[in-house]
This record gives sequence, C-alpha cells and structure tokens, in this order.
Amino acid sequence: MDVNTVEFSAPGKIILFGEHAVVYKHPAIAAAIDLRAISSISASSEQISILSVPDLFPKKLFDLNLTPLPENLTALKFVIDSLLEVTESCKNPTIEISSQIPLSAGLGSSAAVSVSLIAGFSKFLGMDFDLHEINKLAYETEKIIHSFPSGIDNTISTYGGGILYENGVMKELSFQLSSNYIVIINSLIPRNTKDLVESVRKKYEKNPSAIQGIFHNIHNIVIDAEKALKAGDLAQIGELMSSNHQLLRDLGVSHRTLDEIVKILDEKRALGSKLTGAGGGGCVISLFDDYHRATEVVELMKEKNLQAFISNFSNDGVRNELY
Ligand code: MEV
Repeated sequence: MDVNTVEFSAPGKIILFGEHAVVYKHPAIAAAIDLRAISSISASSEQISILSVPDLFPKKLFDLNLTPLPENLTALKFVIDSLLEVTESCKNPTIEISSQIPLSAGLGSSAAVSVSLIAGFSKFLGMDFDLHEINKLAYETEKIIHSFPSGIDNTISTYGGGILYENGVMKELSFQLSSNYIVIINSLIPRNTKDLVESVRKKYEKNPSAIQGIFHNIHNIVIDAEKALKAGDLAQIGELMSSNHQLLRDLGVSHRTLDEIVKILDEKRALGSKLTGAGGGGCVISLFDDYHRATEVVELMKEKNLQAFISNFSNDGVRNELY
C-alpha cells in the first residue's frame, strides 16, 4: 500500500571497542546513541522529485530528475535509484533529510542517514522492507561512501541497542553500563573514514605481521570487554578502553588533539578514554563512575571550544516517527 507522508529516523553510534580491526573480520562492540538522522518523505505536489538536505545545503532544493547532484549526495541518489528500480510506483517524492549527529566525527552519521532514507523511501513506495533488507541496502550504500566498510555502522543503526559484530554477523549485547557514564568529546577535527581505513590498509600491506599483532591485541580486548560489559565492571571497562586507545595510536589513527583530550580526561580521573570510530580527528569517548565529575568534564571541554555531552544509549534502531 502506498502512503503519502512518512518519517523514519535512525540512530548514530559509538564504537566502544574494536574499530579498524573489525574491517579485518575481528570482533568489535558498538552501541546506538540517542542522536538521530531523520528522513521525511511526502508526495510532491509538482511533477518533480525533490531532495533537500538543509544541514549540508541550506535552502537548496535538488530536482532528482535533472540535477547532477553534488558528490556528497551520491550515496543518497544511489538509495533513491535502487529503490525506484524495483518499484512500480511512479509517485514523485519530496525528500528532506536532517540529522542531529555531528558530521565526519566518527558517530555514524552517514549510515544513519542511509538507514533512515531506505526505511522511509521504501515505505513511501509501498515496499515493506524488513530490518534485514534495510541493513543490506545500507551496507551497499556504505560501500559507496567508505569503499571497504565492515558493516558495523549500518548494522548498529538499523538494529539499535548494543552489539558485538564480527565478520558480518551481529550478536545482541545488553550492557549493565548506565549510559550516564559515557561522555563524548568532539575534537571538531574533520576526518574521512575512507582515507583512514585506506591508510591502515597500506600499513597492513607494508608490514602485515606488525599490524596483525595490533589487531590480535585489539581482538583480545574486545573479548575481555564483552565479559566486563556483561558484568558491569566499570573499572575493567575503563582500563580496556585506555588500552584500546593505545593500540589505535600504535596503528597510527589517533591525532595529537585526541591524545591531548585523553590525557586531560585521565587527569580528571576518567576510568578510561579512547577515540571512537575511524580516528584521525572526530570524537573521544570517556567513562566515568561519577555523574558530577562527568558533567564537570563536559563544561571543561566546552571551555576549550570543543563539543562535549553525556551520551545516552538508544535501544531503538530505525524507527517510524509517525506512528
Ligand atoms: C567504523 O565506524 C570505523 C571503522 O572500523 C571502519 C568500519 O568498520 O567500516 C574504522
């Protein structure tokens, strides 16, 4: 059944453990956060299909039939074309995409946008995509953006909650951890996941045994972290986060500013801190066992002109916002 207006949202994410190694089929742990990308789709009153992405292009409307779209909208066009290819519906959509998730910060904004658009546009066209189908097309879309994604970002955004992800297979993980304890600090240094994954690939090709060694150590951290998360052992989780950050430094994907942020967090008695996502800039996550200290750190980071907030986890993955 065709519908005239739909709105779907999908969450961003943090990788708690195992980024980069996960591209090489090692396990990683991710959690959905309560920042969302939102795709609203309604039937156009004109005979044209319109796309607007005000966060990127304020006040600009793109005619999907005419315009060669800017490069950073290619993946969205891929989603739209893929779905139009398999439908008999000939309705013209007006699509508006917005996001609360900081861009290029390692918080999974591209995957969340793809997931919300796939869910929304497939519904608009009368195709009832289930979560598996949404996730599958979102993975294809991530390949356009990131070349060799592990698939963890689209998976956590589709299903929400907490997951352990390994070699394309997801296992649900329920954390004992209160989300009040995780602070996210955005260094505001933009980075590009594709370039960082590519830089690790080059290092791997040049020195496979050294990089495999780092991945092996990250793998072991993820195994221990799964147990610590299940047990709610905050001290152990914090220690493992710090060890994971050190290994990401060894891998060469940290950044001077991220290391400085981690150092300040250590001084402020965080239980542990690490970069999250591809690194090279973007965000640091930090674990506290004291809400008051966590809020103090947020204020301190804001004084340094960084973005900082206490993160809440989200059990919901992709979600229909209209009913
Ligand atoms: C994903 O947010 C970060 C990386 O692990 C890449 C991937 O898993 O596709 C670096």
